[in-house]
Amino acid sequence: MRLLTGSARLAGVIGWPVSHSRSPRIHGTWLERHGIDGAYVPLPVAPENFAAVVRALAQAGFAGANVTIPHKEAAFAVCDRVDETAHRAGAVNTLVFTPQGIEGRNTDGYGFVANLRAHGVNPAAGPALILGAGGAARAIAAALQAEGAAVTLCNRTQDRAEALAAALPSAKVLPWGRRAEALGDYALVVNTTSLGMMHNPPLEMSLERAASGLAVADIVYAPLETALLAEAAQRGLKPVEGLGMLLHQAVPGFTAWFGVTPRVDEELYRIVAA
Ligand code: ATR
Repeated sequence: MRLLTGSARLAGVIGWPVSHSRSPRIHGTWLERHGIDGAYVPLPVAPENFAAVVRALAQAGFAGANVTIPHKEAAFAVCDRVDETAHRAGAVNTLVFTPQGIEGRNTDGYGFVANLRAHGVNPAAGPALILGAGGAARAIAAALQAEGAAVTLCNRTQDRAEALAAALPSAKVLPWGRRAEALGDYALVVNTTSLGMMHNPPLEMSLERAASGLAVADIVYAPLETALLAEAAQRGLKPVEGLGMLLHQAVPGFTAWFGVTPRVDEELYRIVAA
């Protein structure tokens, strides 16, 4: 066991609940690997206490924190400064405590794009179809647009897709019922809905109309292979699993807090998937 010194650097993940979070494993693996005098801990914080706890952590010398459900919008409000990625996403998932105040970033879009690239998929290869209209859809849509891809949003509740499209530069909207038949127009399709997640129904969507070489990304990572990804693999398309996004989105925070840029590799996948 690694013992901390009095000058150990500290970070953690703030959520409610937080016991399901895989972030302590990701950061713990990297801390161990690099022999860093530091710790990364789960921080269960109820919504009514969120802002006070963030300020207290900053005052207590923490280097920063990740923020997860349900705090990502509240985290935006508690920051003294937010960067371009947080602005575009309308939410913050990474806090960095600096002498100048609390800085907010959103690394979800970065993680998604980095994971695409790790799978050999060019994010700007062609138009992207994004299923869903929640926070993850917004971060991913904004990141893909920043890479130069044209984005179409498709959500069961079309009003939400339209509201999100209005917040993004020149995004289109496709009716939910047309998602399978329109597939041939896209180079990338992304499931950001909760469909396919453990204990949820699967996403019903035939990939029969897919153009050859379509990249099919799912942000669901439990199970690792969703029915959507299994069909993509079976049809010879390019499946992109969701765990990689979670691993890659953790990189910028770790680098900011602990001063080392960590690696996403097979061993990390094994440890975090277990
Ligand atoms: P996030 O976690 O990204 O912030 P969210 O706001 O919880 O997302 O939304 C979950 C997404 O899954 C939504 O796009 C939701 O569609 P609605 O806006 O119509 O609710 C989608 N979703 C959840 N259950 C669904 C279902 N049975 N069929 C289709 N879409 C579903």
